[in-house]
Amino acid sequence: MNEQQRKESTQVNPSDKKSEKDYSQYFQTVYMPPSLKDAKKRGKEEVKYDGFAIPEQFRGMGQDKKFYIRTYGCQMNEHDTEVMAGIFMALGYEPTNGVEDADVILLNTCAIRENAENKVFGELGHLKTLKKQRPGLLLGVCGCMSQEESVVNRILKVHPFVDMIFGTHNIHRLPHILNEAYMSKEMVVEVWSKEGDVIENLPKQRKGNIKAWVNIMYGCDKFCTYCIVPYTRGKERSRRPEEIVQEVRHLAAQGYKEITLLGQNVNAYGKDFEDMEYGLGDLMEEIHKIDIPRIRFTTSHPRDFDDHLIEVLAKGGNLLDHIHLPVQSGSTDVLKIMARKYSRESYLELVRKIKEAMPNASLTTDIIVGFPNETDEQFEETMSLYREVEFDSAYTFIYSPREGTPAAKMEDNVPMEVKKERLQRLNALVNETSAKKLKEYEGKVVDVLVEGESKNNPEVLAGYTEKSKLVNFRAPKTAIGQIVKVKITKAKTWTLDGEMIEETVEVN
Ligand code: SAH
Ligand code: SF4
Ligand code: F3S
Repeated sequence: MNEQQRKESTQVNPSDKKSEKDYSQYFQTVYMPPSLKDAKKRGKEEVKYDGFAIPEQFRGMGQDKKFYIRTYGCQMNEHDTEVMAGIFMALGYEPTNGVEDADVILLNTCAIRENAENKVFGELGHLKTLKKQRPGLLLGVCGCMSQEESVVNRILKVHPFVDMIFGTHNIHRLPHILNEAYMSKEMVVEVWSKEGDVIENLPKQRKGNIKAWVNIMYGCDKFCTYCIVPYTRGKERSRRPEEIVQEVRHLAAQGYKEITLLGQNVNAYGKDFEDMEYGLGDLMEEIHKIDIPRIRFTTSHPRDFDDHLIEVLAKGGNLLDHIHLPVQSGSTDVLKIMARKYSRESYLELVRKIKEAMPNASLTTDIIVGFPNETDEQFEETMSLYREVEFDSAYTFIYSPREGTPAAKMEDNVPMEVKKERLQRLNALVNETSAKKLKEYEGKVVDVLVEGESKNNPEVLAGYTEKSKLVNFRAPKTAIGQIVKVKITKAKTWTLDGEMIEETVEVN
């Protein structure tokens, strides 16, 4: 469908319900399904930078209506939800905390592993009842699963009551998609597979006023052989530094205390700029100067982690020395088949450099066990690498074949019981190492950014250290939103208990 065809006739009142058939002449149903084949292409076309604005004719679309978004997956999705919530609010909708009184429900989905997808299909089953009770309810599926042809086909076939499916590149089109869905009797499917857009000026309804996410780049060009993300998120494209700096400054002025810079592979930041040499190190140097106490970034790919970035991070201050550095496997042979493009040795060398420049740095990681044909010896290499690096913690996964990725075509001789056993052994090591690391905190004083009351006990406050350790302690509620000094009294399995010793706002 081309740009011309995309232009809907929107002179009708968008809040009219789809049951009012008279308006059918004013719209054309959108059917733009995804294509994994197109998503795989990496063209030379330029990144298009565009601005977002609510089209005048859609203002007030959400009057007296409520929206609810359920989010699955990574921080990128969490932040996309904040953007969609921002768009809903700009259209006049109000947020609600549950599906019961929502007029629009969106499932912002994740495709990274099979169990992530199963959760969403299960939820669609539940929502069918709700949709039957309230036919006027709009139900949408967005996020990474929408980018997969097989998912869209399955929804069309098995869950035809869904009103709209839109992709990760179509978020800024939400007002148009909602309008189409109100008007149309058919399912609205708008999933662009191939794009090069960076949309600025997106409204954001952030969760909380202490920590904020800031996208620095979109997409991924790494094509690790097991991973669906390059297909669901498109090619790597960076936001311009001045836009990012302006957003961070604005957040600092609003009183936010912590920023996490987001990208699938933030170390590739700036590689797509044709007019200048500018990387993550340069951006961090710029953001280092902004008066905001804590800056984090995620996720790092070991391959693009350069010396300049290490040098900048070593300046410390608001640049926190907690680095999430997914290794995936400790075996060079497995890493090769995964197409990670680094070896066990080069990963260890990078860790050595980081620790040399930042002796207190804490490292966390992601690991996949049971990659096709992974041998016992290769798995042992992962175990020994883990021991050698002594990660603070890790996310561990059993390999899950993803349709359309090269690894999904590989024959796999590792039985599921073996994979599960390996995961258990690895998890035991992860837990043991984490406990040991937490124990070292006993008696030490740490800076804690206080986020609020503890989930289990409203008398107790909870917050995170610079190294992302959860600390529970008693203190007056005025400490919420502040960075305070806490003496650690006891290390528990996953968290730390402490006593506040003074209330301080950190100054860079
Ligand atoms: N961009 C990040 C990772 C995003 S996905 C990076 O490259 O580090 C988060 C984690 O999910 C990955 O690090 C990997 O460990 C895991 N993962 C991705 N695809 C997977 C698959 N097919 N099966 C199991 N785990 C997977
Ligand atoms: Fe997936 Fe690899 Fe890209 Fe990470 S770097 S998102 S694991 S393809
Ligand atoms: Fe999942 Fe998409 Fe994130 S697949 S992990 S939500 S980028």
